[in-house]
Amino acid sequence: MRVLLFTGKGGVGKTTAAAATATLAAERGLKTLVVSTDTAHSLADALAVPGSGEPVQAAPGLYLQQVDTQKALERHWGELRAYARNVLQELGLDEITSEEITVLPGAEEIIALLELREQARTGRWDVVVVDCAPTAETLRLLALPEALDWHVNRLLPGLRRVLRAVSPVVRHVAKVSAPEGAVISAGERLHRGLMEVRELLTGDNASVRLVLTPEAVVVAEARRTLTSLSLYGYRVDGVVANRVFPADDADDWRRGWVEAQARHLAEIHESFAPLPVHTVPYLPAEPVGPRALAEVAAALYGTADPFAPPSAEPPMRVDADELVLALPLADKEAVDLARKGEDLIVTAGSYRRVIALPAALARRGIAGAVLRDGHLRVRFETGGAK
Ligand SMILES: Nc1ncnc2c1ncn2[C@@H]1O[C@H](COP(=O)(O)OP(=O)(O)OP(=O)(O)O)[C@@H](O)[C@H]1O
Ligand SMILES: [Mg+2]
Repeated sequence: MRVLLFTGKGGVGKTTAAAATATLAAERGLKTLVVSTDTAHSLADALAVPGSGEPVQAAPGLYLQQVDTQKALERHWGELRAYARNVLQELGLDEITSEEITVLPGAEEIIALLELREQARTGRWDVVVVDCAPTAETLRLLALPEALDWHVNRLLPGLRRVLRAVSPVVRHVAKVSAPEGAVISAGERLHRGLMEVRELLTGDNASVRLVLTPEAVVVAEARRTLTSLSLYGYRVDGVVANRVFPADDADDWRRGWVEAQARHLAEIHESFAPLPVHTVPYLPAEPVGPRALAEVAAALYGTADPFAPPSAEPPMRVDADELVLALPLADKEAVDLARKGEDLIVTAGSYRRVIALPAALARRGIAGAVLRDGHLRVRFETGGAK
């Protein structure tokens, strides 16, 4: 099963590119699911079908799923919710407050991704296309399973001990039901689910396509996004340059825009090389419905096969004495490296990743590190423990 993610700044055409790619996959006879992690219903609007919590057919072989957060929340976090509700009731707070409390920030997108994993598990799909929320949110979300892993690995055993110790006391003093094993197991299940989502999205058959428009601010953000996606272990295998004006020198205004876009496009090709840059013209009308989307797909990919396994290397590689992490477009000044116990902490700009070192390197000191040709190379000392 091939997984394709579309991300980029707000409004650049992520939903359009995702819907067009999914339309093309279905046309080529692949069983295709297109999922939105965005709570707005624009994916259903682009495909001109009503959205639904379950996959609904939008065209032959093409299914759309618009995750119903409330229903999914009941299924995935039922135990935690029930527990929170009980505690709040016992404390004299009303039901509405507990409902509000259980709606955590970012929870909706996380739930959409958990639903995605369930769909992947069915084995029903050849291609799954994911229309992600705008850049920053998606990044935070995509990084989360790993951050969660880090926290859960360190916190869960301790938390369980603490809960076991305080439960009888809390129950007695506060007359509040202390969490039983159920809460931990819900936490563990959630954690496991998120790890599986991450494996799915960073695995050998998954890749990210960065959508942008040829404008200075958009390109600047896309460059940072490329660096941080790689930092977090995602393969990026293409750039979509959307809303490109057709050559036109009818008047100064149009000529001005065409020239500015041409400059930005040249910069895009140069910056993102060797990634392919797929361009889509600024169409005379909004591309809505299967026919218009098929046209967008034709502009995007021509005769290329956008569903072949990604040729991009995984961003991180570990050799006998070296860890190599691709950080394309990273600025030397903005990259930082720190060692904390058996973890390596890599910072690129405002993004940070905690990498748990593999056993072979975990106990060895760092001999040196260098950022060259878009790769961070960390060399470890040879000859046993530090
Ligand atoms: N190449 C194009 N030519 C003309 N209109 C376009 C083109 N690409 C997208 N649009 C239109 O621009 C609007 C925004 O596109 P879209 O919804 O795909 O962006 P998005 O990145 O998903 O936005 P959001 O960040 O809000 O999710 C839509 O109305 C869409 O139909
Ligand atoms: Mg969208």
